[in-house]
Parts: sequence; C-alpha cells; structure tokens
Amino acid sequence: MSTPTTFTLEVLRFDPTTDTEPYYQTYQVPYDEDWVVLDALTWVKDNLDSSLTFRWSCHMAVCGSCGMQVNGTPVLTCKAFLRDYVPATVKVEPLRNFPIERDLVVGLDGFIDRLEAIKPYIIRKDDKPIDEGAYVQLPKQLKRFKHHTLCINCLLCYSACPQMGLNPDFLGPAALALAHRYNLDSRDEGRRERQKVTGSAEGVWECTFVSACSEVCPKGVEPAGAIQEQKVQNSLDWFLDRLVPGRKAP
Ligand code: SF4
Ligand code: FES
Repeated sequence: MSTPTTFTLEVLRFDPTTDTEPYYQTYQVPYDEDWVVLDALTWVKDNLDSSLTFRWSCHMAVCGSCGMQVNGTPVLTCKAFLRDYVPATVKVEPLRNFPIERDLVVGLDGFIDRLEAIKPYIIRKDDKPIDEGAYVQLPKQLKRFKHHTLCINCLLCYSACPQMGLNPDFLGPAALALAHRYNLDSRDEGRRERQKVTGSAEGVWECTFVSACSEVCPKGVEPAGAIQEQKVQNSLDWFLDRLVPGRKAP
C-alpha cells in the first residue's frame, strides 16, 4: 500500500461562549509517519485554525497534560503515532468523564479535590525533632510502593474507568493509587486517617475491578491493583479492630 500524503483528522470542538452543543470538525492534515497525534493538532493550530484549543507541555510523556481520546481510547497524544491509525480517520475527543472547558481541554477541579481528600503526604502521629535526622527508608521498603509513585496525573485512567461514568463522585483510580502509595510508605502513619475517605461510599468499594485504568496507564502505576490491595487492608483492619480491642495500627 502506498504511503498517504494526507489524512483526515476529526476533532471535537466546543466553545462554551458561542456553542450550545459540541460538534465535530474535520481537517486534511499532511501525513508524516514520525508525527504523533499532538503534532497533527499543532499543525492544524499553526496552519488552519488558531482557535483550536488543547493542552500539552513536554512532548515526551512526562508532564501528563496531553491526554485525549483518540479513536475512542484514552492516550497521551504525544505518544500516539499517526502510523498506528492512518489511513483511517483519526478522531480526537477530550477525555471522557470530565467536563469540557473548551475543545479538547477538560476541567480538572474535581480531580484536584480528590487528590486533596486522600491526604497525599506523609502523616506522623509524633513528628521527631529535625535535629534527630531524617526518617530512614530502605530500598526494599521503597520497592513495595515505588510503582505507585510514578503517576503523572494524566487522567487516562479516569477516562477509561466505566465506574466513573456511573458514579461521578467515585474517588477514582489515580487518587486511590496515591492513597495506597502513602499507606505503604514505611515513614507514614496515616492509613487510618485516609481510610475515612478510601473506605467511604465513594472509595475503594465502588471499584468493580474492570482494570481498564491499569490497561491505559502509560506509567505502570497499576491503580487497579492498588485499589484491590486497599480492599483487603481495609477489611483486615476492620476485623482485627474487633478481635483485638485497643489494637494500634497506622
Ligand atoms: S494512574 Fe496512570 S493513567 Fe492514571 S493519572 Fe496516573 S499515570 Fe495517568
Ligand atoms: S505533552 Fe507532556 S505528557 Fe504529552
């Protein structure tokens, strides 16, 4: 098959100041097999339509800001090569399960609230004085949770999660994986504090273990696994608290 010189890019557009409903717009874009979808969007913005709005920053799968739906799947558009889609039409939409702010940009306020809710920092019951030195952590202790630290907040997991579509109040994969990351940290004593949120009606029990979040995650954070492990830990704490009155646990 000969290499195409152009391809069709179909983009969802929505300007809340002028539109009542989102609509699709198509563009003919030069095809370069080394381009990613983000390059095609940038070409449109530079050459055809400067009003096209989307987020990006690093162009190297680090900042997490360029997540969009491409042909129905949430991806980092700076990592999604055109050669994996063309000659088919490449359809780009904003991430599912978020409000559209404009075109391909979605609102992040709800996600930021979720991050704050799970207390994503080390909690100590008694802080030791600074002059007593740092809290030491061994490599094997770090290994327990290191993969959960790699999140870039790209939100692909929220877009892929069917439960987010059913219950918009669900805390969701990345926030719950981050809670688990701190619960597993050998320096932390805040698990009970976080369980008030992770064990609530919007917490881990809302997850039905479809695992779509882990499948789309570009960083191997394994949010689905983190959520199931918390179900086990929360249940264990519940039982042990009743078996051992006065039990001390982080
Ligand atoms: S868990 Fe993975 S998919 Fe979800 S926000 Fe973090 S990096 Fe992105
Ligand atoms: S532009 Fe930074 S992750 Fe894609």
